[in-house]
Amino acid sequence: MKIFREKDYDAMSRRAAQVIAAEITHNPACVLGLATGSTPEGAYKYLVDWYKKGCLSFQEVLTVNLDEYVGLSPEHEQSYRYFMQSNLFDHVDILPDFTTVPDGLAADLNVECAQYDDYIRSQGYAALQLLGIGRNGHIGFNEPGDCFIKETHVVDLAENTIDANARFFASRDDVPKQAISMGIGAIMNAKKVLLCASGEEKAEAIYNTVCGPITPKCPGSILQLHPNVVLVADEAALSKLTAAGVAV
Ligand code: F6R
Repeated sequence: MKIFREKDYDAMSRRAAQVIAAEITHNPACVLGLATGSTPEGAYKYLVDWYKKGCLSFQEVLTVNLDEYVGLSPEHEQSYRYFMQSNLFDHVDILPDFTTVPDGLAADLNVECAQYDDYIRSQGYAALQLLGIGRNGHIGFNEPGDCFIKETHVVDLAENTIDANARFFASRDDVPKQAISMGIGAIMNAKKVLLCASGEEKAEAIYNTVCGPITPKCPGSILQLHPNVVLVADEAALSKLTAAGVAV
């Protein structure tokens, strides 16, 4: 695992955006696996800025997102489709048909999950998969549990994930209780994984992901088995690793 230690959120965002931009420049028709949440917001701002300056084009890029809340429409301000439109897609030259987010309103969620996996497989998996991490170690919405789930699936969100995401909603009760999440299989089949983290509240999850036992109790820990992971994190998110004497 290659680790970039950055001073703060802005430096982490810039570094993450540089890794993504490098991938697009090297391979303009790449498949990007994308994430939502507060972690990648800053990186998306840099990418939009570089696109506007003419340094970057998304014209041939195809994207697949990690997850979507069950029951939220694309127009809902807290849906992940809405997040992607407003933070990235609406501001760059990506082709709308080349962007995919799971459909949280699908009549048959299990069919939607199976089709999502078929689609990702048919595109040859992501060249680069961007990930944030939950305080509980989740990647995508692969929540801690008794086993790693390979396929895209419907997940009951963990109580601490609902707590963490309540900040985006009017009240905790408004947070959807379920989501569709890309499984561990598609994440691990990405050619490169870019894991990003900022803030002390992620320090334990990052420590367990990098140094802990490989266990579904900390889903991020499976990344230890991936041959090409780049971790971009700020000093606060790396603080437990540095306190343990791990060279970063
Ligand atoms: C989002 C996702 C989640 C988030 C994680 C961290 O698409 O898959 O795993 O990356 O919950 O969220 P933030 O960045 O808001 O702390």
